[in-house]
Amino acid sequence: VIVVPVELGTRSYDVVIGGGARGLLRRLVAGTGAGRAVVVTQRSVEGWVRELDPGVPFDVELLDDGEAAKSLATIERLCRSFAASGLARSDVVVAVGGGVVTDVAGFAAATFHRGIAYVNVATSLLGQVDAAVGGKTGVNLPEGKNLVGVFWQPRAVLCDTDVLSTLPTREWACGRGEMAKYAFLGDEPPGASLAAMPLDEQVATCVRLKTSVVSADEREGAGRALLNYGHTLAHALEAASFDGGGDLRHGEAVAIGLVFAALLARRLGRIDDRRVDEHRAVVGAFGLPWALPAERRGQAEAERLVGFMARDKKAAHDLTFVLDGPGGVEVVHGVEPADVLATLAEMGGER
Ligand SMILES: NC(=O)c1ccc[n+]([C@@H]2O[C@H](COP(=O)([O-])OP(=O)(O)OC[C@H]3O[C@@H](n4cnc5c(N)ncnc54)[C@H](O)[C@@H]3O)[C@@H](O)[C@H]2O)c1
Repeated sequence: VIVVPVELGTRSYDVVIGGGARGLLRRLVAGTGAGRAVVVTQRSVEGWVRELDPGVPFDVELLDDGEAAKSLATIERLCRSFAASGLARSDVVVAVGGGVVTDVAGFAAATFHRGIAYVNVATSLLGQVDAAVGGKTGVNLPEGKNLVGVFWQPRAVLCDTDVLSTLPTREWACGRGEMAKYAFLGDEPPGASLAAMPLDEQVATCVRLKTSVVSADEREGAGRALLNYGHTLAHALEAASFDGGGDLRHGEAVAIGLVFAALLARRLGRIDDRRVDEHRAVVGAFGLPWALPAERRGQAEAERLVGFMARDKKAAHDLTFVLDGPGGVEVVHGVEPADVLATLAEMGGER
């Protein structure tokens, strides 16, 4: 296995990556000193949960599948089940699942008894390279995604790559879109070499990049914003398909957003053609398409997308993008809508 430490002073912990890493759960739970556990999970991974051994008496709580489970109602239900199970302040929550489970279980753990320990066993690729690591927890409101939550770091994260063997194809694509983003981050971005690495190394490389950003910026200042590379258009595409038709998964939207960000950076004179091609090569190497979906093409759709981008919570009311440049990927404010519209028109020509 590969161990990636997350350095956060007294809140430091390890992310353990590799086939069979789930076998370490017993030791990690023992390390928390807990005498009891509640395992929060979903039906899709029940087979894996049956094999897990937390080493202490435990109950299992099943969440519904999908984003709908990320609600305050679920938090109440979970905290009541923790109470019914007799979880004390010194006990532990074990989240076994994708980003939905780790976000919800982490938030419940953060608030039950004003905060108890939790361990993440990330079972989706997106969870392993992103959601389970970094301590952001929370739920959605009808008014928006992830609007309520807290920063609460896990005691450990297990990224068992064997568990991915049951992950549906579309979920692989979702995780790969986030992976592609990491190819351009860091002091020495891995670029196209990322897609060529063995899976464990790929996951570890992404986790190292995420943890270096999180360690430098635990609570989302300028540094953590870089993790949103490719996400400004991605969020706009997701919002547009939510009320305007289309069927795009988050990672697929990020893949399109990465190539868009490269084309915009070229238009602004920040990078050259070769670097744009590298973006296409990385996204392609992860098996993802980057063409703008047919239903999002044309001037009227472009203007609608710009409207969504201006409302993106990271955009703080002017057009802000995370863009590549001579010094690497950075936050760029005050991008002209005309440049964004022209780049979207250019995107219409991408295959
Ligand atoms: N906290 C963070 O920093 C952070 C970062 C990125 C995303 N997120 C959140 O994560 C969520 C998305 O995560 P996700 O893509 O993992 O979605 P998810 O948790 O819904 O999992 C995707 C699907 O895969 C299934 N699944 C998971 N592991 C499986 C396995 N091993 N075998 C078979 N099926 C499996 C799930 O049941 C689900 O149907 C979103 O809610 C997003 O907001 C959080």
